[in-house]
Amino acid sequence: MKEITHELLSSFRAPAFPGSFFLSFEGIEGAGKSTQITRLKTYLENKNFRVLILREPGGTPFGEKLRQAILETKTEITPLAEAHLFASSRSQLLSEVIMKELAVPNTIIICDRYIDSSLVYQGHARGLGVAEVLEIHNIFPLNLVPHLTFYLRIDALTSEKRQKMRNAPKDYFEAKGVEFYKKLMVGYDLMAELFPNRILKIDSEGGADEVTHKIVESIEALISNKQESLSDE
Ligand code: TYD
Repeated sequence: MKEITHELLSSFRAPAFPGSFFLSFEGIEGAGKSTQITRLKTYLENKNFRVLILREPGGTPFGEKLRQAILETKTEITPLAEAHLFASSRSQLLSEVIMKELAVPNTIIICDRYIDSSLVYQGHARGLGVAEVLEIHNIFPLNLVPHLTFYLRIDALTSEKRQKMRNAPKDYFEAKGVEFYKKLMVGYDLMAELFPNRILKIDSEGGADEVTHKIVESIEALISNKQESLSDE
């Protein structure tokens, strides 16, 4: 596997559109992403932001087709093929939606999963290598990353319990079982270490309100830092 160099990491940047922000949520199944995304949307709309929620894979007509192709496949595909499929959906989403919408001032895009899902699922858990997945993304606009990523952390066993309670049919990745989920947790922890300024790791084993509080706190800090730096320019 390839080495993750500083040079490679330095190619990844948040998009620079004044007054607009790009956020993502990450975590294993059952971490509570949907609840927190809905709460954050309401919070930000009350602050007069224009908020768009996107999901990956998907978010464009082409991406939704890829989503079906990947998650409903009955045959095993290689991690490299998976990584390219997700990156392909992502690049379409970036060009068709994310960059255009962020150009409208006062917009916040919240993405339910983004590049870290590929780094963790394909790069770490499926064994392709994190550097290999970063390299696939080392071309504009795939090298655009969120300003802030919320990693909602729960244990693999908590995830299993919450999945059982929901009783929904398992997709391609969910069917891989608890050992796979343990690898995902390790992978996400590694990403939080690799991108300490971008990824905020939040313990989500307990109550949802505490998680919301931490998210809101860091969003406030992000917005006021940006406003300060704009007034300095
Ligand atoms: P989804 O139903 O959206 O999962 P969840 O509700 O857990 O967010 O399905 C997306 C699945 O695809 C999920 O198991 C994670 C996986 N995935 C990857 O493996 N790589 C990626 O780059 C992305 C975006 C998702």
